[in-house]
Amino acid sequence: MRRAVCPGSFDPVTNGHIDIISRASQLFDEVVVAIGVNKSKASARLFSAEERIEMLEKACAEFPNVTVAGFEGLRTTFCEENGIRAIVKGLRAVSDFDYELQMAQMNSSLVDVETIFIPTSPEYSFLASSLVKEVAMFGGDVSALVPPFV
Ligand code: PNS
Repeated sequence: MRRAVCPGSFDPVTNGHIDIISRASQLFDEVVVAIGVNKSKASARLFSAEERIEMLEKACAEFPNVTVAGFEGLRTTFCEENGIRAIVKGLRAVSDFDYELQMAQMNSSLVDVETIFIPTSPEYSFLASSLVKEVAMFGGDVSALVPPFV
């Protein structure tokens, strides 16, 4: 059985994340969406781990082979503990690639994992959780960017 993990902070989940999860679910038998802590974004966190898990469970309910889990520590430890050898990350732009390539190489130096990059669909290439939070905080309409329950 081919299993993959989609790690992220998902603070909050956006329609861009759901697009990547949906496409990963068509490539793998089982996909685990793993919610972790990005140390560099921790101070800007809006939703608790429980809230993020609840929102992702709703967002992924339509995909029968997708489950949601929280994790602490390294994503590679999560992979090892769950017998997962593939990490899926979405790429929006070259700036994402610079960062994610370094992560992918570090991850594969730590454990036996491969990182698979899925290009974001063009309609979501500008979408980021941090921008959604900023737009919402200043009263902007984010209804086209995130699921209604977010
Ligand atoms: O893309 P994101 O949302 O910033 O990813 C957040 C997350 C939590 C998936 C990422 O920061 C992560 O995997 N953190 C756990 C620590 C880790 O493994 N870091 C990578 C070291 S190479």
